[in-house]
Amino acid sequence: MNTSMFPLLLAEHKGSFWFAEAGSTFAEETDFLFMAILWISTFFFVVVVGAMVVFAIKYRRRPGYQGDSTALHNNALEITWTVIPTLIVCWIFARGVQGYMDMVTPPSETIDINVTARKWSWSFQYPNGAESNELHLPVNKPVRLLMRSDDVLHCFFVPAFRTKADVVPGRVTTLWFQPILEGEFPLYCAEYCGDDHSIMRAKVVVHNQKSYEDELVKLNKAPDAPVAHGQQLYLRRGCKGCHSIEDGKVLIGPSFAGSWGKDVKDSISGATVKFDEQYVQESIENPQAKMRAEFAKAAQMPSYKGRFKPKEMAAITAFLKALEDGKITPEEESALPPPETPAPTGDGAAKTN
Ligand code: CUA
Repeated sequence: MNTSMFPLLLAEHKGSFWFAEAGSTFAEETDFLFMAILWISTFFFVVVVGAMVVFAIKYRRRPGYQGDSTALHNNALEITWTVIPTLIVCWIFARGVQGYMDMVTPPSETIDINVTARKWSWSFQYPNGAESNELHLPVNKPVRLLMRSDDVLHCFFVPAFRTKADVVPGRVTTLWFQPILEGEFPLYCAEYCGDDHSIMRAKVVVHNQKSYEDELVKLNKAPDAPVAHGQQLYLRRGCKGCHSIEDGKVLIGPSFAGSWGKDVKDSISGATVKFDEQYVQESIENPQAKMRAEFAKAAQMPSYKGRFKPKEMAAITAFLKALEDGKITPEEESALPPPETPAPTGDGAAKTN
């Protein structure tokens, strides 16, 4: 790929005024074409507007100056300013097609990761069955994402990877790229998807191979103790995005702190129900069945029916109960128990379901 045409404009592997860090193999071609189009446009803008200003002044209407009554025709000029721009546009099209074909044609060997977008969180499922809210990837390996939406239209956008694709309800969108830099990169939802679209952000962490494998093992390991298991599910299955576990801190839905065992007044039936095992299960599987009046917004919670196995449902319940008992303080994922099993090898077979 020849980028020597614009050597001063293309910073190598560093964030610039125009671009985030070049984090994937797509960045070089994308940035080159962007800068080429920018400078070609700038050149013609200056030439055309400059000539217009000069002519407007030079041939302005003034006493003693008689203009031509008809415009003159110049064949050589007409041909020049038709042929040159046409050739430039053809070149831009050819480069664009080349880059596009690269972006839509994944290599035969990829690491396949399933992505679920929902209001308002991302969930990633790895070949070994692990699941997380952040996207963990190995460096210098092609990755293919199989993306589905649980509810409305979302859009997966990682500026550092120069990659972006809509996640459309009812269909699977595939997207491939190859990270070339280790580090953390922001992931955004780039399609307006409701009130809290702007908080639908996540982190992409690009690891070396060893650290990637360790991470997957860590993610896959469910703690034996139900409370710790429940906390892990809370952090990784998207609950955290809308429900805090700090007293009085309301994100989208009610805080889980100080909820267990309390009376909840259902705004639909007017009945008072207890925040217990039954209530928790119902709220997860059918969030709109009972709602507190002050959380009309919680009506936007999607159903998580079938997403938790009975053992996981029990773990979530144990976690919520432990919160009320004061046995748990807000903790980050990094504080979860370390992995105990050895790392799996290779990329493994892709699970597409
Ligand atoms: Cu999801 Cu915006």
